[in-house]
Amino acid sequence: MSVKPEISDFIALKGQRKIVCLTAYSAPMAHALDPHCDLLLVGDSVAMVIYGMDTTQNADLDMMIRHGQAVMRRRQSALVVIDLPAGSYENSPAQALASAAEIMAKTGADAVKLEGGSDLAPHVKCLVDSGIPVLGHIGLLPQHAVAGAAFRITGRSDEESAQLHADADALVAAGVFGIVMEGVIEPVAASIAQSCAVPTIGIGASAVCDGQILVTEDVLGLYDAFTPKFVRKFANLQDDIGAAAAGYRAAVIDGSFPTRDHLFWPKKT
Ligand code: KIV
Repeated sequence: MSVKPEISDFIALKGQRKIVCLTAYSAPMAHALDPHCDLLLVGDSVAMVIYGMDTTQNADLDMMIRHGQAVMRRRQSALVVIDLPAGSYENSPAQALASAAEIMAKTGADAVKLEGGSDLAPHVKCLVDSGIPVLGHIGLLPQHAVAGAAFRITGRSDEESAQLHADADALVAAGVFGIVMEGVIEPVAASIAQSCAVPTIGIGASAVCDGQILVTEDVLGLYDAFTPKFVRKFANLQDDIGAAAAGYRAAVIDGSFPTRDHLFWPKKT
């Protein structure tokens, strides 16, 4: 039986225990991950990881809704958050509200995430005032990275550090229930995590963050186009898949599959 998770329970985890988050794009993955996660993110990384595109900037609203629906079909108790894709929200708070409302209505997810700091605070406030919970995302923003260029770690200068603190403060004031911090140098990420009123979720940020998130296919060793420094592989499923496919091939070729038991026979009369 699925239990509708509460944003307030997620926030209450801050200071209690570390918060566990992973991405999910499909129903079976949501089913497998849900018992182990507080939050499942239907990230726009789906464009790269599942569709083999070069950048998350190729994700669109339809793609996010389709994968959000798939994840919602098998989620049990984890909070499900769906990324607003690039181009669907930046122009104005009204554009952000129209896109977020469509995602929420068509998927039944719990919240949306958008990338950006102080400049996006009015957009966040508009969604929150309309009853749509928002997860912020500051630091390295893949939707804004130049396609093909290396992702740039942020917070190395005093100006960048001050900007990141200001971004976190502006998002909290606008009403986010949590903030993803991606690719931020450790001391700056730790200092933001310690002073932030809502949970901070790190990805290449700091162990001091209230929780961590990674792309599941990275964790499972299923995505090898590019592995960032902040990833730890907890499995190497690509090898397992190769071994299974080789076993299947051998069985088909030598005739040991299918056996009688896999086939349908006339009913005995
Ligand atoms: O799209 C995504 O997967 C993300 C995470 C990396 C935080 O935004």
